Amino acid sequence: MRKLHIGAVSFAGLLISQAEAVEVGKPSRTSITSAAMRALAARDYDPSVRDPDWLAEQFLGPAEREIVAGDPALQALDMDYREGQKVQSAAVGQHLIRTRYIDERLQHALRGVTTQVVILGAGFDSRAYRLRKLLKTVKVFEVDFGPTQEYKKMRVQEILGGLPPNVVYAPIDFTRQKLSAVLRKAGYRPDRVTFFIWEGVTMYIPEEAVRGTLNFVATESAPGSALVLDAKQESFIEWVKASLASPEKVPEVLRPTLAAQRKYVDWGEPWIFGFPDGREREFFKSVGLDLGELIPMDGPEARRRYLTRRDGSVAFAVTPPAASLGASTPSPIGWVAELVVPKR
Ligand SMILES: C[S@@+](CC[C@H](N)C(=O)[O-])C[C@H]1O[C@@H](n2cnc3c(N)ncnc32)[C@H](O)[C@@H]1O
Repeated sequence: MRKLHIGAVSFAGLLISQAEAVEVGKPSRTSITSAAMRALAARDYDPSVRDPDWLAEQFLGPAEREIVAGDPALQALDMDYREGQKVQSAAVGQHLIRTRYIDERLQHALRGVTTQVVILGAGFDSRAYRLRKLLKTVKVFEVDFGPTQEYKKMRVQEILGGLPPNVVYAPIDFTRQKLSAVLRKAGYRPDRVTFFIWEGVTMYIPEEAVRGTLNFVATESAPGSALVLDAKQESFIEWVKASLASPEKVPEVLRPTLAAQRKYVDWGEPWIFGFPDGREREFFKSVGLDLGELIPMDGPEARRRYLTRRDGSVAFAVTPPAASLGASTPSPIGWVAELVVPKR
């Protein structure tokens, strides 16, 4: 299989090629496992908590299953739902929170003056297709690594019989290309109120590119535009780097967490960035954005809003794996947030 070399990141003293992640003709593996987690939560028996992404499962045919063969996210889909639910509860729960939160904020934005939606690192994001009616008069830009995007377009055509006319596909490597140039070339209008989605992506991007992307949103979209994202904390990313270098120091309870991180490294998609713990507002201010709302995904607010069924049961428990070791242990559970472009 021919491979496209698009870059490398220095990480824990190792040089990890990202080429695996963008093998020509193949999508990012984490984009498949994310779709699988949405597909699982879309089977919940209570519609009030169910993941709204009813299209996710259709993206997961035999070829996609083969690409991530043996991954627990796909295996859970082959189990009885009540058993599958237990497999990666915290990870599926975080996907459920972020998907429902972003859908809510998008629907809110579309009731206002938003006329452009930009989906950054789109993967198998299905909003442009499952919310097609709502987005009828809105231009949607899907921005992603070229190979992942080409693969997704092929699958959308197979599943839906064509590509919607209001969707523009713009390939990018956030670490090498300027988002401004890529989007403007694709027909993006900086004078419009725009809704940006950055779901499940910031942990894969170096700080400089994260700052560059946020600064683009702050300076090249109309005031009142918004960006929703989910992210990890810097303390956890630092723990990952140290633990990959010295795995023998990792307590038993965190070994599965480290194994998951090693898998991302093997896939060429390591987690390399987290926002400074407790100083997120200042970070966003420094790139020109106001923090509207930030919700920790293991907190009571997220559990009440997005995980609790009508009968009071919790669909997916989002609990840090090392909760028993105390609050100072870094947690892989992050937050979701909405950022707003202030008046200039
Ligand atoms: C975990 S997937 C999330 C996909 C989708 N947003 C979702 O939530 O299902 C990460 C996505 O980020 C994209 N990505 C990671 N690094 C990137 C980079 N440097 N440039 C462009 N896209 C990147 C991958 O192609 C992939 O689609």
